Amino acid sequence: MGLRDAESRAASRRLLATSERELQRIVLDMHDGPVQDIFAALSQLQVVERAVAGDAASQQRVQQAIGLLERALGEIRNFIGAFRPPGFERRALGEIVEGLAVQHETLTDQIVELELPPDLGDCGLPTKIAIYRILQEALANGHRHSGASRQRLRVARHENAIELTVTDDGRGFDPERVLAREEDVGVEGGHFGLRGIQDRVEMLGGTLTIDSAPGRGAALSVVLPAE
Ligand SMILES: Nc1ncnc2c1ncn2[C@@H]1O[C@H](COP(=O)(O)OP(=O)(O)OP(=O)(O)O)[C@@H](O)[C@H]1O
Ligand SMILES: [Mg+2]
Repeated sequence: MGLRDAESRAASRRLLATSERELQRIVLDMHDGPVQDIFAALSQLQVVERAVAGDAASQQRVQQAIGLLERALGEIRNFIGAFRPPGFERRALGEIVEGLAVQHETLTDQIVELELPPDLGDCGLPTKIAIYRILQEALANGHRHSGASRQRLRVARHENAIELTVTDDGRGFDPERVLAREEDVGVEGGHFGLRGIQDRVEMLGGTLTIDSAPGRGAALSVVLPAE
């Protein structure tokens, strides 16, 4: 690797860690700002609901408003849950991955068959964050799109590399077509996921392989330098 390559790789690693830190700040701001305000609004409305007890029409309106705010609160909570800092600095790679698998099982009705070697060891912060975000997206896809009731998640260490594999036996898709649909990305709130994985892998100098076809399940495999 030339000096320029090494410099740009180091810059990419810094950028990945920085964007994660920014994301965590956004999550905290959301928790302390809008979530607290919605809470306050909800308790005010509950007072109003009692005050208009004799007026069925007003009571119905207030209840609708309470329902809407509760739904908004639920959505923000889900978002915060998905992006809550999992303690990247404190916890080793295996523990982070295990936590993610358990969280996925808890939040969905899917089983995650986890294969983690006891001697996985740890890796640098940017790599650990990337692994977490990649696995989070791969599991989310396997839940939202595959229709399968279980997924397999395997993390392995080869000498200087960490390999991630996420597979399901679901309905499958054509990865080349999906990744070529450049114009779709970001339109109507979707299809950032695989592109994001691709970008993270590229920034860390790794490789991404997606093996899937309609009706044949999906296997996503990523190899990253274990820096
Ligand atoms: N495990 C899978 N099984 C079946 N189809 C999949 C799987 N993973 C991805 N896909 C297909 O690839 C498409 C693109 O996935 P991608 O993660 O980029 O976007 P998305 O999940 O639709 O939206 P986003 O991730 O931005 O919320 C999906 O819409 C789906 O059609
Ligand atoms: Mg996705």
